Formats: sequence, C-alpha cells, structure tokens
Amino acid sequence: MSYSRRGFLTAVGTTGGAGALFATMGALGLAPTAEAAARTAFVPPQPSDFTLTGRAAKKVVVLGAGVAGLATAYELGKAGYECVILEALDRVGGRNWTIRGGDRLTELDGSTQTARFSDDVYFNAGPGRLAQWMVTVDYARELGVPLEVFTNANANAYIYNAGAGMAAPVRWRTAKADVFGYVSELLSTATDSGALDGRLTATDKERLITFLRGFGSIGNKTQGFAYQGGGRRGYSLDPGAGEQPGVTLGPVPSMSEVFASGVGQRFSFELGYDQAMLMFQPVGGMDAIPRALAAALGKHKIRLRSKVTRITDLPDGVEVEYQDANGRTRRLTADLCVATMPPHILARTPHNLGPDVQAALATPTVSSAGKIGLEYRRRWWETDEDIYGGITNTDLDLSAIWYPSYGYGGRRGLVVGYYNTGAQADAYAALPHRERERRAIEQGMKIHGAKYRDELVSSVSVAWKLQPHIEGAWVGWPSRTGAYQLLNRPAGHVHFAGDWLSYMIAWQAGALESARKAVTDLHQRVLAS
Ligand code: PHE
Repeated sequence: MSYSRRGFLTAVGTTGGAGALFATMGALGLAPTAEAAARTAFVPPQPSDFTLTGRAAKKVVVLGAGVAGLATAYELGKAGYECVILEALDRVGGRNWTIRGGDRLTELDGSTQTARFSDDVYFNAGPGRLAQWMVTVDYARELGVPLEVFTNANANAYIYNAGAGMAAPVRWRTAKADVFGYVSELLSTATDSGALDGRLTATDKERLITFLRGFGSIGNKTQGFAYQGGGRRGYSLDPGAGEQPGVTLGPVPSMSEVFASGVGQRFSFELGYDQAMLMFQPVGGMDAIPRALAAALGKHKIRLRSKVTRITDLPDGVEVEYQDANGRTRRLTADLCVATMPPHILARTPHNLGPDVQAALATPTVSSAGKIGLEYRRRWWETDEDIYGGITNTDLDLSAIWYPSYGYGGRRGLVVGYYNTGAQADAYAALPHRERERRAIEQGMKIHGAKYRDELVSSVSVAWKLQPHIEGAWVGWPSRTGAYQLLNRPAGHVHFAGDWLSYMIAWQAGALESARKAVTDLHQRVLAS
C-alpha cells in the first residue's frame, strides 16, 4: 500500500495524535520549528481529496464576511466547495475596519459621522497590530499583502499616571531608567549585604551583581551601588559636536517618588507573547487583509447588506433566511453552514439548533472598546517631540494615545486619541461624537499641551458596542468548558467559527485559526459522509 504525503500524515495524526503528527512532520522536514508546527499542520482542502472517494465538494453558506467568514470561504474554495457569504454590513471585514476620507459611520441610535480625512491618512478603527508568530502573517504572505513594522513600544512615548500624583508625563525611557536603576540598587545592596545568602552561592551573588550593574546602570560597590540617573533617562540638551557633551535630563526623582508614580507597573505589557515587539501592520490599512481575502475568493460569492433572520437545520442540510439589500426576505439552502457572526448576535437570531446551543451562544460576556482617530495638520509628535510611532499609556479615561507607524516626516498624520475598553469605553460611547472629541482633546492636552487642540483638523470615533450587526469589541468566556466546547462542535449542519471560539480572542489570528478548524472539521465530515 502506498501513501500520499498528505494521506500518510493524516494517518499518523489520527492514530498517534498531534504530537506524533508534528514529530513526523519534523522528520519529513515539514515542521521547521515547534512554534510553527501548529500553523503548518493545517492543510487546506484540495480537489484531489475527492478523487476516488465518490464524494464531491458541497455547497456551504457562510454567515458573516469578517475575517473568520472570509477565511472559511477562501480555504473551502481551494477544494471547490461552492460558498456563499451573507454579510449584514455594506462592506467586508467586520471589526477589521479601516476608515478613510468620505467613509460614513452610523451607530445604533442612528447618529452618523462622515470621515473628512485627507488622502494620505487612514484610521484602523478595529485591529491595528499583529505579532510575528500569528497566522495572520502567513495569510498576508499568501495573499500578497505587504506588511510593515507597527511600533508597539517606543522609548520616546510617554507614561502618565495622573492618579498617582505624577506632575507631568514621563518618557518610557526615563521611567525604565529610574525603575530598573533603583530596583538594581536595592537588589545589589541586599545581595552584597548577605540578605540572600540562603538562596545564592558566592558565585551567584557575583553574577547577579554584574547583571544588575548593567541592567540598572548603577555604581559599583564602593559607590554603594547607587543609581544616579545618566544618559539613559534622556537629555535636556542632546549631545552634539565639539565641546557639547549634552545635558542629561534631571532632576532624578527619589526612589520613593519613582515607586509612588507606579510607572513600573506599565512595563509588563510589552513582554506579553501577543504584544512584544516586533509587530506588524499591513501597508495602507488593516483592511488590506479582508480585501485581499474577498478578492481571492471572488466578490460574487459575497452578498452584502444581507441580514440573517433565521437558521434552520434540516435533515439533509440547512436553510438560511435573510433580508436582502432591498429589504426582501429570501431563503438559501446549502449542505452545510459556517456561522461566524458574533455569539450575542447569533443568540438573538431565530434558529432550531436547540436550547443547549441557544444557552451556549448567550454565555459569553460582551466587552466594550472605543477609538477616536484625530487628524492633525502637522506631525507635531515627530517635529516637536521626537516620537515616531509607538504608544503613550495613561490612567486618564483616554487610556492610550497611538502615534502613526507610517507616513513619517510627511505633512499630515492621524493619531489615535483614545483606545479604551470597559467603563472608559462606555463613558465615551454614551456621548455624541463632538463630545467624545472634546473630552479626548481635553485629556490629551495634559500630555501634549495646546497644540493637541489647535492643530486638529478632523476626527472620527467608533464605539464598538454601538456598531450595527457587531455590537461589541470582543467577548469573554466564564470558562472554556461547557458552552465553549459545545460551540466548537457542529450543531446539526451548522459549524461555528470566529475569534470567540479560540484562545486568541480579540485577535484576527484567533478568527483565522478558528476558520481553519471549522474548515478542517467540515471537510473531514464531508469526506467521511
Ligand atoms: N488585540 C487587541 C489589541 O491588541 C486587544 C487585546 C489587547 C488583546 C491586549 C489582548 C491583549 O489591542
């Protein structure tokens, strides 16, 4: 008996499980690294899978043209599945939404905004960053979407904890110099005085102190391991030519002041597996990803402004009722369905999938998030403050300010004036757009001064809970057993997919991995039927 490579791997995977599969793939040179193994393990369905099986690709209706829905149809299309996507909005992408000049936004209460942005700026209202290890990067490569660096951490951006009594924002570099410096001073002193002798050998102590002297840029033993500031904090006058060594930024705050400011509690963010530099963004706007997926699978397969009104599982397929762009009720039947709408929207869509599915769909809690895009007539963050991309973090209700990771040195630019979640997002959502802008500007002036108001040209704000057919930023599960597991299995002829069915909620990678899982499950089912 001879095996194709794919058939062989499938057999190994079925009998030996994922571990054996990856090990075998490694031996075959197909799994370059352990990290990449989970991603390379996905093999798209292909037409040849059907040869000699007597089976054929089926008709599949996909609900939702967000990243999960588009990827589902794209991957199924590779094997010749006949897919139709129903999308309630008049655009593809779902939460992956890039707003440009001329675009209109409508919120649930009917209020509208029209973006007045100039041609060279865009606003990623939803996702704005991707990590190198995410499958999103693989899709960008496959679809020919060019990526560029997204600066998620910038030593020149600020931290401002007003509630901790900070008199003024401090640059990340300064905060790190002070926190690392004083922590190193303390730990060196404790180590040297024998406080850790129960834990450390003499050699350990020596090595630890060597590390701390560099890590904290502190003095030696005769200097009492003292942290006394230095160039790492920054300069009030930069080093120059000839006789100009520069003037280091002072005064250095006391140890007690540094701990009281709470700046150190910000540092862990950039160590997160999903947030650590280097990160990416598509050139020209995040929507390059859904646009490329839609183009690859063919626009004719996507019915926009088509709102799902009922899902009926049938003995031999599924029927989906929807309201089309003209408000007419229409019905569509298919062999199988992949529902990628948000769970809370599915939960209020009539269906016959049973009370357990209904209860499961209603289980996750919906989170809020909001953003405002502020276009400025001048890139003052670059010219006046030497900030080229990156993020300022605050405890103000704007939470964070993002500087653009594109268009450096150009004329105009767009700053994200708030990106907040939870109660802060709800507070902004409750305001009309003009008031959101006013509040964001008032808060942002505490970081950047009057130019933050005076150089503003126009703005657009998004409150994700108020976006029609989306109604939330992302969801959270009380647990990953029960409801979550139930919806990760098909209900009759209906499979589910979306970031909400992954361990990467609020990431496109979660939507893409979930789509791949639904595609794999569905295809195996068709081959086995
Ligand atoms: N992916 C989103 C972001 O990067 C939401 C998120 C934030 C997810 C932080 C995880 C951690 O902003």
